Amino acid sequence: MTGDRRMILKPNQRSQIIPLPVVLISTVSEGGIRNAAPWSCVIPVLRPLDEVLIASWLKRDTLENIRQTGEFVINIPRAGMEEAVMICARSYPPETDEFEEAGLAARPSAAVKPPGIEGCLAWAECQVEEEIAREKYVLIVGRVVHLEADDRFFSEADGMDYEKSMPLCSMGGPNGMQFVRPISTGKGDRYASMLGSSPNQ
Ligand SMILES: Cc1cc2nc3c(=O)[nH]c(=O)nc-3n(C[C@H](O)[C@H](O)[C@H](O)COP(=O)(O)O)c2cc1C
Repeated sequence: MTGDRRMILKPNQRSQIIPLPVVLISTVSEGGIRNAAPWSCVIPVLRPLDEVLIASWLKRDTLENIRQTGEFVINIPRAGMEEAVMICARSYPPETDEFEEAGLAARPSAAVKPPGIEGCLAWAECQVEEEIAREKYVLIVGRVVHLEADDRFFSEADGMDYEKSMPLCSMGGPNGMQFVRPISTGKGDRYASMLGSSPNQ
């Protein structure tokens, strides 16, 4: 980029330049209280593997529940679910059932105790592998032990139909974040090309 188009930002504005996913993490406490919270610091670790990484501030019921049970579900909400997502972002006492607060219907999970959330596009049931403590936050490495998607929007041949399913994402801004969703540029390539392999591999 030429010098005259350069704009220097503060390092902590990085969340204004990196588009992020918006997921809902569902957990239960030891006592069985259901919790749901929006999360953007969540990433599959290296494409062919089955681990995920989430970052959590220390003061989160989600983190407390994950520590108590070792389990969580990553639910992928659709555009249109913003209101429920923002209700779940409110700070409720740990004894509040956040499914009830946000009007979310639970769907039984196959391999973990926390339920998933109906109306989402996909559900990744996870078990904790490792917690990495930092001064102000923790990183949790989870393993996906069961994964399901709504077959109206997902096929093995074509993957997620994101134009139809509208997975929710966000971009940070100076005064807050806005919800966005992916659209196609019309271009793409095979996984082999990501690794710099020859077209015949
Ligand atoms: C779009 C969005 C993304 C968020 N991402 C995170 C995140 O990655 N990590 C985190 O600790 N909190 C994140 N939060 C804040 C929590 O969702 C919020 O503090 C919530 O009340 C936590 O609920 P809990 O205490 O029931 O876990 C995010 C909030 C929103 C709206």
